[in-house]
Amino acid sequence: MKANLVLLPGDGIGPEIVSEAQRILEKIAELFGHEFSFSSQLIGGISIDKTGDPLPQETIDACKASDAILLGAVGGPKWDDPSAKTRPEAGLLKIRKELGLFANLRPIRLFDQLVDSSPLKREIIEGTDILFFRELTGGIYFGESGRSGSGEDETAFQSMAYSVREVERIVRMAAKAAQQRDNRLTSVDKANVLEPSRLWRQTAARVMAEEFPDVQYDVVLVDAMAMHLINRPRDFDVVVTGNLFGDILTDEASMLPGSLGMLPSASLGSDGPGLYEPIHGSAPDIAGQELANPLATILAAAMLLRHSLSLLDEATAIENAVAAVLADGLRTKDIARGGKHIGTKEMGAAVLERLQK
Ligand code: NAD
Ligand code: IPM
Ligand code: MN
Repeated sequence: MKANLVLLPGDGIGPEIVSEAQRILEKIAELFGHEFSFSSQLIGGISIDKTGDPLPQETIDACKASDAILLGAVGGPKWDDPSAKTRPEAGLLKIRKELGLFANLRPIRLFDQLVDSSPLKREIIEGTDILFFRELTGGIYFGESGRSGSGEDETAFQSMAYSVREVERIVRMAAKAAQQRDNRLTSVDKANVLEPSRLWRQTAARVMAEEFPDVQYDVVLVDAMAMHLINRPRDFDVVVTGNLFGDILTDEASMLPGSLGMLPSASLGSDGPGLYEPIHGSAPDIAGQELANPLATILAAAMLLRHSLSLLDEATAIENAVAAVLADGLRTKDIARGGKHIGTKEMGAAVLERLQK
C-alpha cells in the first residue's frame, strides 16, 4: 500500500515524540512492504513564530490531500499571554473543524504490565477497558464568545450549543462501536442544569431506542461520572459525551492506565483523512530533556494504521511491541513510579527492536 502521511510535530515535546512514531511507521512499511511518504507541516506556536498563523493554509491543504495525519502537541508558556491575538490551540481547533473531525476516540486500555504504575489500586482498575467518544467540533469550544464592559464590570462569555444533527452522528458512531465491543453505551451530560445537555439527552435516547434497541444504554451526569471513573471504572464500555466534558474526563481517566503519556486518540469525520494524536499536551515542563513518553504517540500511529489505512495486522504489531517493551520492564519516568527509567529515544528504539511481522 502507498500512503501519504502528514506529520504535525508542533511544540514542546511534540517533535520528540512524533519523530519516534515516524521511525516506527517507517519500520512497519519496511516489514510489511508498504510505501509511506511523510510531509512535515507547521501548526501551533512554532507556526505562529514562523508565519504569524497557528494553522497556515499550506498545512490545511496538505492535510486535506493526505491519507492520514499524525500530530504531536501544541502550546506552551511562550504563547500563553491571555491578551495575545492568536494562540497555538486555535490551530488545533481549526484543523479539527476544517477536516470535520467530529468524533474523538479515546481508548482507555490498561496494559497488564503497568497495573502497578497507576496511582489507583489494582483491585479497582484491573480489567478496565473504556472507549470514550468525545464530540470534537461543537459545544462550548465553538460557541459564540466575546467580552463587553470595562473595569469590574468587564464580562466575558462563551456559549454552549449542540444541534440534533451533531448529537445524532456522534451517538450513532459510539453505538456502532459498542456493538463491536461489550454492547454497552453510557451517555454523559449535565441535563439537570444545561439546556444543550437536555437536547443531547433527548436526542441520544431517541437514537438509541429507534436504531440500537439491542445496545444496553444508560445516562450519567458528568459530576457523578468523574467519581464513578475512579471508583468503578470496569463498569463502563463505550462512553459518549460532549467536547468539554470529554476533554476533562479523559485526562482524569488517563490515570487508570497510569500516565497521560500512554493514551492515544483518533479524530474522525464521516469521510476524509483522520487525525491521530496523544491525548496529552506539549508538556513544556519536560520538553527537550529526553523525559517524554513516546508510547501514546506510537499507539496513535497504530490507531492511524487501523482506522485510516485498514492495516489491522500492522496496528497490532505496534501494540504487541509496546506490550513487549513494558513486559521487559522498560519505563519512561512518568510510568517508572520512582524506579529506573529510560529516555524518549531509548523507548522508541526499544519498541522498534521488538516490532515483528
Ligand atoms: P500536558 O498534557 O502538556 O502536561 C500535563 C502533565 O503531564 C505535565 O506534568 C507533563 O510533563 C506530563 N506529560 C504529558 N505528556 C507526557 C508524556 N508524553 N510523557 C511524560 N509526561 C507527560 O498539559 P499542560 O501542562 O496542562 O499543558 C501544556 C500545554 O499543552 C498547554 O499549552 C496546553 O494548551 C497544551 N495542550 C495541547 C494539547 C494538544 O496539542 N492536543 C493537549 C493538551 C494540552
Ligand atoms: C486536547 C487538548 C485540546 C482540547 C486543547 C489543546 C485545545 O486539551 O486535545 O485534549 O482542549 O481539545
Ligand atoms: Mn485535553
